Amino acid sequence: MLANRRILLIIGGGIAAYKSLELIRLLRGAGAAVVPVLTRAGEQFVTPLSVAALAGTPLHRDLFDLTTEAEMGHIQLSRAADLVVVAPCTADMMAKMAGGHADDLASTLLMATDKRVLIAPAMNVRMWQHPATRRNLATLADDGVLTVGPDHGDMACGEHGPGRMAEPRAIMDAIAGALGAGIDAATLGESGAAPVEGPLAGRHVLVTSGPTHEPIDPVRYIANRSSGAQGAAIAAALRDLGARVSFVTGPATVPPPAGVQVVAVQTAREMLAAVKAALPADAAVFCAAVADWRVANEAGQKLKKDGAGLPVLEFAENPDILATIAAHENRPALVVGFAAETNDVIAHATAKRARKGCDWILANDVSPGTGIMGGAENAVHLVTADGVEDWPRLPKEQVAQRLAARIAARLGSGA
Ligand code: C5P
Repeated sequence: MLANRRILLIIGGGIAAYKSLELIRLLRGAGAAVVPVLTRAGEQFVTPLSVAALAGTPLHRDLFDLTTEAEMGHIQLSRAADLVVVAPCTADMMAKMAGGHADDLASTLLMATDKRVLIAPAMNVRMWQHPATRRNLATLADDGVLTVGPDHGDMACGEHGPGRMAEPRAIMDAIAGALGAGIDAATLGESGAAPVEGPLAGRHVLVTSGPTHEPIDPVRYIANRSSGAQGAAIAAALRDLGARVSFVTGPATVPPPAGVQVVAVQTAREMLAAVKAALPADAAVFCAAVADWRVANEAGQKLKKDGAGLPVLEFAENPDILATIAAHENRPALVVGFAAETNDVIAHATAKRARKGCDWILANDVSPGTGIMGGAENAVHLVTADGVEDWPRLPKEQVAQRLAARIAARLGSGA
């Protein structure tokens, strides 16, 4: 899948930079060409020689490098790549990217590129949780920058929490996903990355993920802040248990995992059509944050400030994809929905399970202050016909692994 793809890899200044050496090795092993850029701070953690030797190509270090400028120039360097990856991406680099700075080679390349950018943040837990980093992350997500990680765990500084750079294999996964989604969203599954063994081998599972975009006119739309992180993690966990996964995703900021069949959609109605087209399935997990309403009087041309007064938007209700599939003649044996609530979480989720006709609901409290919406962790309650299970607060990847294991157990038991 990565054969002949060109990755511009910017290595920032963090202790995790040593993992980027392994990333270079993995990328080259997968057939990709790696063009490395090492920041001044990055040079404090890994040597230019080891980076260049592993990449098998000269290293780029200086903004005003006369040889490079004469031969190629930083503009071309940034555009000749298929994808720009920043790993590790420090808090400072995120701030520079969010602010549009261009005062060294790395930041200039990031400003000049016309390609997708994927960052693997790595920093101390407090720095990751700092409001400035949260703001920068939101800005970068709005700019279309993709993110992988950070992981949760012990940090080099002795603290514990989110902030560790994602493992090189997870970054590879995200790179493959970003490139696949960028080329042809419908054919990512061709990588052959999906294992054929595991408790879900031979099973087909459908996952919806991400937000939907509902057009107002040809250039404007209504959206929500879903990152698609939980949906992508669930698809990856199902794939890891051997399932064939159809991943129907709205415009998310987290890239789809490799080795799943990606169908990229924009609107709720497109999502419903893609979900129906993917049936039959053994199980379906509806993780998408689908817009409840769409604009009924969508304009065929861009709305203008023409002095005729303010435009008036009329709304129509979108189809409920989960409820539609739960009542469908081709209903998967197991239908799982989500309920994001801000109060009376269990009561609302229990009612929603009945109303939508699904088997399980994963309910979570998304009140401001929980840090769950857009964050790396989730605290869920699994609501089934048998009652309610409270799961501990866990990284979204672990919530996904638990859910995938439960799905495997349920499908395996035939219950
Ligand atoms: O009604 P509410 O939006 O809270 O329901 C959430 C659940 O329903 C999620 O599983 C979501 O993916 C699904 N849903 C859907 N289609 C909609 C609205 C929600 O599939 N139009």
